[in-house]
Amino acid sequence: MTTETLLTVSDFSVVYDVDPPVEAVRHVSLALERGEILGLAGESGCGKTTLAYGIQRLLKPPAVITSGHAVFHDESGEDIDINALDAAQMRAFRWDKVSMVFQGAMNALNPVATIGRQLEDVFTTHRPRMPKGERREECARLLDIVGVGRDRLRSYPHELSGGMRQRVMIAMAMALRPQLMIMDEPTTALDVLVQREILEQISDLRTKLGFSVIFITHDLPLLLEISDRIAVMKDGAIVELDTALNIYSDPQHEYTRRLLSSFPSLTGERGDFVRGSETQEAAR
Ligand SMILES: Nc1ncnc2c1ncn2[C@@H]1O[C@H](COP(=O)(O)OP(=O)(O)O)[C@@H](O)[C@H]1O
Ligand SMILES: [Mg+2]
Repeated sequence: MTTETLLTVSDFSVVYDVDPPVEAVRHVSLALERGEILGLAGESGCGKTTLAYGIQRLLKPPAVITSGHAVFHDESGEDIDINALDAAQMRAFRWDKVSMVFQGAMNALNPVATIGRQLEDVFTTHRPRMPKGERREECARLLDIVGVGRDRLRSYPHELSGGMRQRVMIAMAMALRPQLMIMDEPTTALDVLVQREILEQISDLRTKLGFSVIFITHDLPLLLEISDRIAVMKDGAIVELDTALNIYSDPQHEYTRRLLSSFPSLTGERGDFVRGSETQEAAR
């Protein structure tokens, strides 16, 4: 893997301007490498979603960005200061360069439109000149690579399991081949085995296609399995950022240790990161 930087976040702060104000993100700095999976962990309410929205300019009032920058180092060589984009530039930037799988996204599919139709919409909106046949084939290919299969193009959301619906959301996020995908709790509502399969798929696709991922979850042990590095967030600030191996084997922060012990890990087989896999098996 190269060590070229894809995204630099510096001194980034967000306040919800309510009474009393909530300092949801406090002076966060991090550099994401091209092709890297960066895990973002922390308890519910610590500011993960706010940070993810903030670096894509998706925040709405009462949220206010009170300090900092997010700069995207495009593959063209251009540095894009996300805060400085106007609305039209922002629309072009999102999906194309950076896409997001939103928290609870699998429940956000339109119940009365087929999966294929909803995938096609991404292309009709962002690639209006793409010929219809090519668009159809691209949607079929996307469903194949996320493991849903092109025979599901005509299915409606309710005909798919939660795991399948979440894969469709991942296919949508991948559609325009963004350089970065931000996934907010993408597997949280799914059962353990399905989570595991989806994680492996994301990891494989990353290797094949070379995009970067910011993978957000409150489940730190889960992140150990998929991340190259992990940022641990507490009360809006990053308290520890290190390789997954160092976070697992030598956590520096008391809070990180607490997060490591607070969830049963997902799986046994991957061995190297997983303590007491027998207990996990027994717990199933
Ligand atoms: N629209 C809002 N107005 C006021 N406070 C908010 C709003 N959205 C989130 N918050 C607060 O900001 C903090 C961070 O929330 P969030 O980013 O959703 O955390 P996480 O994703 O880690 O669970 C929490 O204290 C939450 O209550
Ligand atoms: Mg959240």
